[in-house]
Amino acid sequence: MNILAFESTCDETAVAVVADGRRVLSDVIASQAEMHALYGGVVPELASRKHVEVIAALTEQALREAGCGRDDIDAVAVAYAPGLIGAVLVGLSFAKSVAFAWGKPLIPVHHIRAHIAANYLAFPELEPPFVALAISGGNTLIADVRDYTDLRILGATRDDAAGECFDKAARVLGLPYPGGKPMDELARQSQGGVYSLPRAHVDGAELDMSFSGLKTAVVNLAHRAEQSGQPLDRAALARDFTNAVSGELVPRAMRALALTGHKALCAAGGVAANSVIRANLEAACKEAGCKLYLPPLRLCGDNGAMIGAQGYYEFRAGCRAGMDLNAYATRALDA
Ligand code: KG4
Repeated sequence: MNILAFESTCDETAVAVVADGRRVLSDVIASQAEMHALYGGVVPELASRKHVEVIAALTEQALREAGCGRDDIDAVAVAYAPGLIGAVLVGLSFAKSVAFAWGKPLIPVHHIRAHIAANYLAFPELEPPFVALAISGGNTLIADVRDYTDLRILGATRDDAAGECFDKAARVLGLPYPGGKPMDELARQSQGGVYSLPRAHVDGAELDMSFSGLKTAVVNLAHRAEQSGQPLDRAALARDFTNAVSGELVPRAMRALALTGHKALCAAGGVAANSVIRANLEAACKEAGCKLYLPPLRLCGDNGAMIGAQGYYEFRAGCRAGMDLNAYATRALDA
């Protein structure tokens, strides 16, 4: 079964064709990062406008690269939530038009479920149940993936997402947007141990997280250094910050494994590309005797193939949307 899939929830327009939820026939992405870098972050209206400009050409390219025409496509999948509402609406409206004009079923896909499903593309043997650690620019959560379409949130951030926190910390360190990758490169130049940063815990919800205090601490450290003329060890701060984020994520993911009894952990989302977090997850899973799935870097960030992967399983579970499907800025992954 071939699914034509659309993703436009933030600053990547992405279109893919995926066979049977597992095989990528084409996967084209137009990133807007360079445009938003001028402003130090995503400008929502510009994001929507750029999606409008490129989505038709990307669709032609995805179909051409997959060697598919209208008759080879069995269904259309689209990310309908969560995301920047204007951006999501562009992909959603376009996907609806294709489904309507071609007479194909329309499958609504939750963006974070799709991030987790990117692992199905990378690891053919992977099947639920497992624990997923989804860490992206807009969301940070730990989920019990009981089955392909039966997911439960075990813990989530109470405020900022891990990626948002990386981007903000990078900004105060003078790094370009999006800041995750340059922070990663800077952090690798130091072992850290110079700056002490706060760790958060949420009373009565051991798997919930909080990153806003950490973000503020880095901002204050950088500002104080600037005002007092003290030199800032940027690499050490990047490393200590990364260690602090990892210290929030990795022990909680391991605790989720212990609580559920699952023997496999999958990472997902843009922040799952971080080299320190990857290494710490590897060490922790090895010690616990659990299998770890780390998607290749190209499948960590937003892409259309992951929408096609999750879309397949949603379709198999009987999920279809009508032409009245709307977009949502926020929506729980287990709603
Ligand atoms: O999953 P994604 O592409 O978009 C969302 O769905 O939000 O994640 C983007 C986030 C950005 O905040 C970016 O800075 C972060 O992922 N990121 C990283 C790394 N590469 C990307 N964060 C830490 N280390 C990285 N290597």
